[in-house]
Amino acid sequence: MGTPPTIDQHADRSTRSPAPLAKNQIEISRENELDVEAERRLYGIFRHFWHPVMYSAELTDRPARAVLCGQALVVARMAGQISVFNDLCAHRGAALSLGEVLPTGELQCAYHGWRYAGDGNCTLAPQRPDLAGQLRARVKKYAAVERYGMVWVCLEDEPYLPIPEFPQFDDPAYDKVFLPVSEWDCSPPRRTENYTDLSHFAFVHDGFLGDRTRPGVPEHRVWREDHVIRMLLDKPMAEPRDAAKNRSMAAADGQLDIIKNYHVFMPLTVLLDSANGDNHYCLFFHPTPIGPKRVRNFTIGARNYGSADTIHDEIVGWNELVYGQDKPIVESQRPEELPEDLSMEMYVRDVDTFSLTYRRFLLELIDRLDPR
Ligand code: FES
Ligand SMILES: [Fe+2]
Repeated sequence: MGTPPTIDQHADRSTRSPAPLAKNQIEISRENELDVEAERRLYGIFRHFWHPVMYSAELTDRPARAVLCGQALVVARMAGQISVFNDLCAHRGAALSLGEVLPTGELQCAYHGWRYAGDGNCTLAPQRPDLAGQLRARVKKYAAVERYGMVWVCLEDEPYLPIPEFPQFDDPAYDKVFLPVSEWDCSPPRRTENYTDLSHFAFVHDGFLGDRTRPGVPEHRVWREDHVIRMLLDKPMAEPRDAAKNRSMAAADGQLDIIKNYHVFMPLTVLLDSANGDNHYCLFFHPTPIGPKRVRNFTIGARNYGSADTIHDEIVGWNELVYGQDKPIVESQRPEELPEDLSMEMYVRDVDTFSLTYRRFLLELIDRLDPR
């Protein structure tokens, strides 16, 4: 790991390159600066953490397919319990998500009707009912729980950290809304970093979350608490008038003064609490890795003001607008993964403090979970 440079050390970035670009030559691809091994290790550690794979409301009485870190999964309610297995029948490899859940609570494959219990053991091959109870076939089962209206899965038997905390979800003072899931072509940490980036508001969200004529980053503090990175603005941040209209943060007509309070539960979950006086508007966000460079964005909105009747229109519409502004930017970033060598990107003191803290923490997790 390199020592993070200050802005002054980066006056000429070409000095870091063994083959400086010729004058007027534009560097359009930097993928090669991240070696394959570093990229593999970063992606690999996500198996050790909980990720939401679907909203609970999406799961009917039929099995459903999900993907986590490239692993195809079948999610099913079996006898009232959530079960998650490899989406692969032990008999001939058909997708179990094409099957059905029987009244007995067993999952039945659509191809030849083999049945599986909630522990993943095969209970019946209908062609040989005499072997029931003696079959050694089984499907791989994963840790899975429902929380905050989502199905969370961990691909390793021992999750490294608990499921992130979202206390507002269980607080009756808050109305909640589930945002539609969207898929982006980017690495999961890039998306989390985007969610916590204070200095892009003025440009990407000009007129919505920031103002291009005032690009300064508000004073804020960043610190670590166990497996959480905290970021808190010292003073309220002004949001433009349009934000008040679109998001109905408060009854105030005009500019909003927002205190932003972030909890980032490593490695990917963000709980952002935006407060305007006593009015709190929270976003609980997690970009679930489908593959190394593709995420599913899960977002729950919660607020303790306004009407439950209008929360859907006001929060869903607003966030789809904001996400739409971020998406092309984040998908354009190269290398897709965050660089393992922290010296590869430029960090501006008092501006990129969160990013630096986040990346250092990621590197610690990589070294702990995948030691060289
Ligand atoms: S492939 Fe599933 S029962 Fe044959
Ligand atoms: Fe953004």
